[in-house]
Amino acid sequence: MTRFPGAVTIITTRTPEERRGITATAVCSVTAEPPSLLVCVNKKTGTCAAIAETGRFNVNLLPDPSHDLAMRFAGVGGVTGEEKFAIGEWTDDARGVPLLANARVAFSCEVTEKVEAGSHQVFIGRIVDIHHGDGAALVFEQSRFHRLQPL
Ligand SMILES: Cc1cc2nc3c(=O)[nH]c(=O)nc-3n(C[C@H](O)[C@H](O)[C@H](O)COP(=O)(O)O)c2cc1C
Repeated sequence: MTRFPGAVTIITTRTPEERRGITATAVCSVTAEPPSLLVCVNKKTGTCAAIAETGRFNVNLLPDPSHDLAMRFAGVGGVTGEEKFAIGEWTDDARGVPLLANARVAFSCEVTEKVEAGSHQVFIGRIVDIHHGDGAALVFEQSRFHRLQPL
């Protein structure tokens, strides 16, 4: 799967106590009607428990450059929970779920289905709002970040 390029996102949610988020490439469009997507979240992460608890999440597609943010939300250096949000410009959507202000695009989702798949929980989310930004997306492949170039 390291040979499989993935758009880099930060999946976020908010519990009554704190904001949670992880860097994730396992994000995929599911249906157009209704508009939905899926995310695969490791069950060991606090974000997985928080999404299961709240039934809400946002998918923030990272702009280029933002690999520092991607590494932070991957937990590099042992950073976790609310601490991850110390860098980047964060706002909230109408439900109070964290939105990255300069995301290429961000989707506000409500969980409609959950599937247990080994180490991961697959959440299917109905898209209830879309937030558009500018710039190019950031891509991850062969354990490195890449820039998109038109052919
Ligand atoms: C480029 C990249 C893509 C990742 N994709 C996923 C993913 O799709 N799903 C996932 O559960 N973890 C993914 N991770 C790992 C999580 O970001 C990491 O386990 C998480 O941030 C740990 O958070 P915590 O220490 O706060 O629990 C990815 C990491 C990187 C660097």
